[in-house]
Amino acid sequence: MSPPSPISSPVSGGFSPEFVWGAASSAYQIEGAADIDGRAPSIWDVHVHSKDGAYQQHTGDVACDHYHRYAEDVGHMQRLGLGAYRFSISWPRVLPQGVGAVNEPGLDFYDRLVDALLAADIDPYVTLYHWDLPYALQLRGGWMNRQIADWFAEYTGVIVDRLSDRVTNWMTLNEPQIFLGGGPGAAWSVASVRPTLKERLLSVHHCLLAHGDACEVIRARAKKPPKVGLSIVGVNWFPTDNDDARSVSLARERTRGVPNADLWNTAWYMDPVVHGRYPAEGLVRFGDDAPTVQPGDMERIHQKQDFVGLNVYHGLPGSADDEGAWVDEPEAQGRPRTALDWTMTPGSLYWCPRYVHEGYGTPVYITEHGLSNTDWVSLDGRVRDTARIDFTRRYLMELRRAASDGVDVRGYFHWSILDNFEWGQGYKERFGLIHVDYSTQKRTPKDSYHWYAKVIATHGAHLDEQDYDGVGALAPAAQEALP
Ligand code: NOJ
Repeated sequence: MSPPSPISSPVSGGFSPEFVWGAASSAYQIEGAADIDGRAPSIWDVHVHSKDGAYQQHTGDVACDHYHRYAEDVGHMQRLGLGAYRFSISWPRVLPQGVGAVNEPGLDFYDRLVDALLAADIDPYVTLYHWDLPYALQLRGGWMNRQIADWFAEYTGVIVDRLSDRVTNWMTLNEPQIFLGGGPGAAWSVASVRPTLKERLLSVHHCLLAHGDACEVIRARAKKPPKVGLSIVGVNWFPTDNDDARSVSLARERTRGVPNADLWNTAWYMDPVVHGRYPAEGLVRFGDDAPTVQPGDMERIHQKQDFVGLNVYHGLPGSADDEGAWVDEPEAQGRPRTALDWTMTPGSLYWCPRYVHEGYGTPVYITEHGLSNTDWVSLDGRVRDTARIDFTRRYLMELRRAASDGVDVRGYFHWSILDNFEWGQGYKERFGLIHVDYSTQKRTPKDSYHWYAKVIATHGAHLDEQDYDGVGALAPAAQEALP
């Protein structure tokens, strides 16, 4: 068991003055314009048009039509008061074959988007890969082909050359645990490939090489000093009782270790990147399935990280039993759950950033957090998503506690700015702060949007108000907190 490391640079009173309030999205989930201006198919385009596609054969062909409506959407972001917006670039929009010829009209779109954001005083945070691999590269083996590190470096160079005079915050990959490990965005399920564990671990190795090489490309070619990281989604265990030292320590060990023989953990990705080696516990667990590390690989993977992005939606509470073994908390009957059946576990937004920051020493951003809900527009035109307000409030209070206890958490990006295409679930799930009517493309800011605007305007002080409809005036105490 690794000893707890001391937490550095304590911040008193919650969120630091520089704390960034944001929201997030990804290209395939909102852009639409699937075959416009020279974009070629990604693995997701091919998947959703196959017989095994998404819920009720939904596709991202049109999605939120953000490609054409980005200016309106940035207007909503500006009125919300966002300090930052995290979005991803569609690789096949920019390089239709994945490598080679650049599609200038595709690249121009991101120019326009970045310019619009900056004009609205919103800092762009760019994710280079959010699951939409060019189909042309899948035909060449995709993540199973070691050459993908070179393909990704070439693509990264094109984006950095064009945008780095204005973009400084970069995330290479989003959730490799999901797109290679399993889950709705798995490259495998959408490419109809059924790999063995050994093949999946090899692909993860390739994606770590791709991440490392991309970090080098960004640092070498960026026109403004860049900040580089990636966004991960580990499984988070945390203690039911915050003061029970044995449970705190066991949860830390599990969250930072490789407690199962699957790929959904933090250490298998972050240890090579930050420490330059695969975790010993994982090497034992995976045995002969672990990838062969070629000479020079770890030097490529092991790169300075300016931050780590954490996508946190829920966690697994529990405690140590009398023998010191971990026991998941038994599920209470009627426990609160989101529409996607995820449990409400706010403690995960305290403990996950804390354990990761303690383990790796890097600053942390919450690059995704939110919930899907069954929202609709009421007859009076409002979207009353009280559950989203309460859910977000509870989690943000825990994040504030983490910041108060010295965890170096630099920002929070709500998932998502708009309702959007939720992968295998299609449009069934609604994660947005803004409701989208897909038949008209009408945007309606939800009550949670108005509530989050107050949280942003008061730098978190509004979390202390019992304001569950979001549209009322700021309470006097919150007004006092306004800058
Ligand atoms: C994580 C993924 O990055 C994002 O694409 C997805 O929509 C959300 N989680 C919600 O499932």
